[in-house]
Amino acid sequence: MLCLLSETIDSELLEALPNLRVISSYSVGTDHIDLEAASLRGIPVGHTPGVLTETTADLTWALLLAAARRIPEAHAFVQDGSWSRKPSWEPDLLLGRDVHGATLGLIGLGAIGQGVARRAMGFGRRVLGWNRSPREVPGIERASLGEVLHESDFLSLHVARSPETVGLIGRAEIEAMRDGAILINTARGGIVDEGALLAALKTGKLAAAGLDVFDREPIDLQSPLRSLSNLVLAPHLGSASVATRAAMAELAVENLRLGLAGRPMTHCANPDVYA
Ligand code: DGY
Repeated sequence: MLCLLSETIDSELLEALPNLRVISSYSVGTDHIDLEAASLRGIPVGHTPGVLTETTADLTWALLLAAARRIPEAHAFVQDGSWSRKPSWEPDLLLGRDVHGATLGLIGLGAIGQGVARRAMGFGRRVLGWNRSPREVPGIERASLGEVLHESDFLSLHVARSPETVGLIGRAEIEAMRDGAILINTARGGIVDEGALLAALKTGKLAAAGLDVFDREPIDLQSPLRSLSNLVLAPHLGSASVATRAAMAELAVENLRLGLAGRPMTHCANPDVYA
């Protein structure tokens, strides 16, 4: 089976496919697959880490910059003719937040979090980071979750979705953040409580946010998140560059071929299956 992250591969489906030998997902994330159920059936699950790290870090910065400098609002202002009805320049038009010199907090210090941190150096930023299993990364000050929330002007999430990370950023955590901070999520939906985020964006507790991932994808047409001017939205585009999607496809096919040949996959998400 070659699958996408939008497909749920649960034990019920595996039950219905008694001849299935190999699963290869065209994604790094495997939260859509019941890994334990696959391991129980001796099915190796391939995925695509590494090749999408830098592209996803780029998209994180695209959202961060767009949210801080209000790029979608600015674009709409020019495109819908609003600018043409106003003076050519105004001191207080669409003021945003400075990106340079601000403190960036990272939740999750895996490959993508580290890629985001590397880019922060060019903006002269202090970078704070928290990881569930403590991790030392040069250039990132290790901090508790509370310290990262409390001291960051920008907070970016880079943890996988798991029972431990669902709801990790809820009402209390948002309340603990700096007034006027900006939150970016390119990891997975469900890690941020969308209701709490909505409320914080409405009251101005948070100045802005950027989301590439949602509780429900595609986002519900009725979702109130769609109508906030201080929320930049993208439809799960983290890895969406021409070169990276091609590299993911190569790796997914390689994993599939190796699995079918009974050889260890290049990247297997449930290596216990080989034990
Ligand atoms: C993945 O591969 O898990 C990403 O979310 C896709 O961009």
